Amino acid sequence: MAIPRSIAGLRIPGKGANRARGLVRLIALLLLLVPVIMMARYGFGFLSGDVLHAPFHMIRQMAATQPFFSIHAVSAASALLTGWVQVFPPARRALPQWHRRLGYVYVAACLVGAVTALPVALHSVGGPLASAILIGQASLWAGLLWPALVTARRRRIADHRRWMIRHYALTCSAIVLRAIMATGVAIGYPLQLVLAIALSLAAAEAILRRPRPGLQRDRPIIQRPGSSHKAT
Ligand code: HEM
Repeated sequence: MAIPRSIAGLRIPGKGANRARGLVRLIALLLLLVPVIMMARYGFGFLSGDVLHAPFHMIRQMAATQPFFSIHAVSAASALLTGWVQVFPPARRALPQWHRRLGYVYVAACLVGAVTALPVALHSVGGPLASAILIGQASLWAGLLWPALVTARRRRIADHRRWMIRHYALTCSAIVLRAIMATGVAIGYPLQLVLAIALSLAAAEAILRRPRPGLQRDRPIIQRPGSSHKAT
């Protein structure tokens, strides 16, 4: 079967098996956009700061942690949207100059989202164990920005791509968590949190393990004595 060169006006580069992989990637990312928009819309809903907007069991938590609760929901929603644009290949190809600018917006949104998650996590309705897991998740969310940022600034594009896929998977763990909760599986909130993080990171590793001809691991940068590395 011939693989189309484009879908919905979006060009799929490469030939044969490479183009087929590109097509699958494109369709998967377009499908991901649906829960991303739904979750982002939910997060932006907290912009008003009205505690009655929170799910019933979170009203007290939201009241006790405002304005951090609202800032977390809104900044994390911004990270979810900008992150999707960053990992969507046609957007990168069409607007390369925006990729860097939007990258900094993503980093800022994640940092604000992670820092504001800390006071909110301390009041988690799931109790101390859930608080500890959420604090760990927030720390990882902030910490993993570092390799993603450093590899981009050093132009180690293949490594940057790897770290961004891992990082965005962690951002998407918020969606995975809501999906797990929606199934009604009664394993307790702390375990649901761990499962959401583990599944998201495992999905990222599965994506990264697929062979991708043409984009191999970056060679380590060997700096000549006396030369200064130009950051981007
Ligand atoms: C990945 C790192 C994240 C951490 C550590 C985190 C942490 C938290 C915490 C501690 C809460 C309070 C609920 C609770 O105690 O269980 C919360 C609620 C919330 N978060 Fe996040 N979050 C993350 C990602 C996101 C993302 C990407 C979004 C995107 C919109 C988001 C949107 C929200 C919203 C809307 C709420 C309030 C309502 C609800 O939980 O249903 N969070 N988050």
